[in-house]
Amino acid sequence: MHTPDIKPTLVMGARGSVGRHVLDALLAQGVPVRASARKPEPGRFPAGVDVVTADLTDRPSLDAAFAGIGQVFLYANHDGVAGVIDAARNAGVSRIVLMSSGSVIHPTSRGNAITEEHREVEDAFAAADDLDVVPIRPLVLATNALGWSWPIKATSSVALYQPDALTAPIHEKDIAAVTVAALTGTTLPAVSNLLTGPARISQREQVAAIAAATGKSIEVTELDRAAASAQFARFMPAEEAEAVLQFLDDAAAGNSPATTTIANVLGRPAIGFDEWAADHASDF
Ligand SMILES: NC(=O)c1ccc[n+]([C@@H]2O[C@H](COP(=O)([O-])OP(=O)(O)OC[C@H]3O[C@@H](n4cnc5c(N)ncnc54)[C@H](OP(=O)(O)O)[C@@H]3O)[C@@H](O)[C@H]2O)c1
Repeated sequence: MHTPDIKPTLVMGARGSVGRHVLDALLAQGVPVRASARKPEPGRFPAGVDVVTADLTDRPSLDAAFAGIGQVFLYANHDGVAGVIDAARNAGVSRIVLMSSGSVIHPTSRGNAITEEHREVEDAFAAADDLDVVPIRPLVLATNALGWSWPIKATSSVALYQPDALTAPIHEKDIAAVTVAALTGTTLPAVSNLLTGPARISQREQVAAIAAATGKSIEVTELDRAAASAQFARFMPAEEAEAVLQFLDDAAAGNSPATTTIANVLGRPAIGFDEWAADHASDF
């Protein structure tokens, strides 16, 4: 078992969906923390927290951010991994908890651009076998549904590719809770198992949960693959858009499971999508 270093824990991307909950949970446990962001805006962090500017692709910023730090939470950023490893070594960081992706260990997700970018990051850290690096591997984030926020607000409808595809979306608070367990060393190697929500639910059912949480009537229409590809490609590189479509095709083929990792690690059930929708009602 990892014995937590008494030095402070650095939470990088501390205003990210997961990072903010990691920071809050560590503060609630009384763990000494430092927070970082690429452009930290004053007033956006809890009072009294030591906030620094750091970018995973900017080596000097990492040297400053890692100085005097024990554990680090960071996002998987494909660029700059060698610099992160070098900076962590130089600073004597005792553990890195890496926000990775379940697609790296999910057999039917192999080969697409998003999976392979995460795999390359994991492999680079694994090759640095003098560092203690714990990957956190959620398969499908519930926050993906935030992409429906604008059309729901603007048109009370949302157009979906594979609306009946079943996935088990995970609440960002659950990812953060497992991350905190890994940072504070109070848990088992199961922290790196495939992380999901408690049960599979279709995209159409997710919209229904959002409708129930907001009191809105929301229409679902169906997008074909070409239209969905064009829509995703407006927001991300074409190979990532294709990867998202492949994840949805894989889910529609019945390959996106619900696991018991959250219950195994935390000793309580994973948070369901209904609760996620209630937590995020104001986003829709
Ligand atoms: N979507 C899915 O279903 C899915 C599935 C599995 C895994 N994932 C992983 O989950 C991640 C999203 O997590 P999230 O919802 O918490 O994301 P989020 O809210 O978009 O936050 C991403 C964070 O990454 C940080 N970041 C990005 N580039 C950085 C850099 N160069 N240096 C330092 N920090 C950087 C950002 O920090 P700043 O505050 O400095 O901008 C931001 O806080 C994805 O990127 C993917 O790796 C997603």
